[in-house]
Amino acid sequence: MKIYIETYGCQMNVCDSGKIVHLFANQGYQPTSDSRSADLIVINTCSVREKPELKLFSALGRYIPLKRQRPELVIAVGGCVAQQWGEKLQQRCPGLDIVFGTHQLDHLPRLVAEVRQSHKALSATDFLDCPGGLEVMARPVPDAVSAMVTIMQGCDNFCSYCIVPHVRGREYSRPSEAIIEEVRMLAASGIKEVMLLGQNVNSYGLKASGEISFAKLLNLVHEVEGIERIRFTTSHPKDMSDELIAAFATLPKLCPSLHLPMQAGSDVVLKRMGRGYTAASYLEKVEKLRRVVPDIALTTDIIVGFPGESEADFQQTLSMLEKVGYDQIYSFKYSIRPGTRAADYDDIVADEDKRDRLARCQALQDEISQAVLLAQVGKVVEVLVTGSSKRGEGEWSGRTPESRIVNFPAPVSAPAAVEIAAGDIYQVKIVKAFKHSLRGEVVVDAGS
Ligand code: SAH
Ligand code: SF4
Ligand code: F3S
Repeated sequence: MKIYIETYGCQMNVCDSGKIVHLFANQGYQPTSDSRSADLIVINTCSVREKPELKLFSALGRYIPLKRQRPELVIAVGGCVAQQWGEKLQQRCPGLDIVFGTHQLDHLPRLVAEVRQSHKALSATDFLDCPGGLEVMARPVPDAVSAMVTIMQGCDNFCSYCIVPHVRGREYSRPSEAIIEEVRMLAASGIKEVMLLGQNVNSYGLKASGEISFAKLLNLVHEVEGIERIRFTTSHPKDMSDELIAAFATLPKLCPSLHLPMQAGSDVVLKRMGRGYTAASYLEKVEKLRRVVPDIALTTDIIVGFPGESEADFQQTLSMLEKVGYDQIYSFKYSIRPGTRAADYDDIVADEDKRDRLARCQALQDEISQAVLLAQVGKVVEVLVTGSSKRGEGEWSGRTPESRIVNFPAPVSAPAAVEIAAGDIYQVKIVKAFKHSLRGEVVVDAGS
């Protein structure tokens, strides 16, 4: 039996898809990259904007007709669109066998078995207080250096534009013991870097009685032998505590890189978004962080064209990009999400203005990113090798602690015994900056 899985959306979805593959491996399913030879097709969906949502319908348009040749093929749709639409998805797309919500991941093998027996469409989208999928521990991909660990589910922030709280449910923190056990298991299987995931990791544990804070959790992860690098995402600026900022100074394995979504630079817009901070208080957090880790690499999310955003408001977003100097940004045109508060706001920004603002925002950031990368030339940085580079034979690729991509050739002058492998750490001198990556030369083979 073969399973084909397609994933859209955030890292949490990527992590969930890994768990699904693992659950079906236990049932004898092999993963395949060829949808036409699959016995089970799973689409793990995202509804954060209209674009990823629409991807589902074109995918179903491709896969449902495959059932004509393969009547035993089962098609399941999970994730955030599945949660939002429920069985209405099956009314719209006849031939879709299973709709499973964001809290039902661990029930999928049972649902597939039931459908194979009954040949009837099924949907399961209840929210649970303690979603079982969080405790499914996927074995890491062979030769992987890095692994994701979901530490929280859901979100209680209800930013006015955002569908996530509606489709992932209430905020729930996984017990810290379970998280540490998973990190230990990953370290024992050779993983060097963990990425802790949640919609707002800064509020980890705050609503669970007797649970530790996120900063304390980081301390525990730091103690796990074999783990060399720790990252986390996403951090909500309003919940970025001094304790967490201090952790960057005291935990050497905690990488100096942080995704801190700003969304907009205008206080009026931030207020209507319900973000709970101002541009000034955001900058204050950035300054505090930079006092502790001067070279911290920051990335952010930006929405342009939120209802009511004037040109002057937008200019403030541009000005924030200049003030902060992000390594990279992820910028989006505002997309109306039915059921959210902002869907009822009527001062809509015209699509051509949104497009224009997005282009200006990205053009400015390209310049800033280029300057950040150029400033790296000449520096010696620590690179964790992630694998051979796409450029070809003898070329390797890795990341700095700041998460910058570095490509480098295997050192020719090195003793023959030095063999580079994923997971090694090298000191690399940066010789050139490209648009999205750096090029370097190994100076010390610290990893061997
Ligand atoms: N939990 C994270 C964000 C998760 S969604 C946080 O609080 O920052 C990822 C990003 O998608 C958001 O940061 C936001 O920039 C973008 N986004 C969310 N809803 C959107 C919408 N309706 N239109 C456009 N972009 C949106
Ligand atoms: Fe969405 Fe806001 Fe929650 Fe992030 S914090 S997931 S943007 S509601
Ligand atoms: Fe998308 Fe759901 Fe993640 S809406 S961004 S897949 S939480």
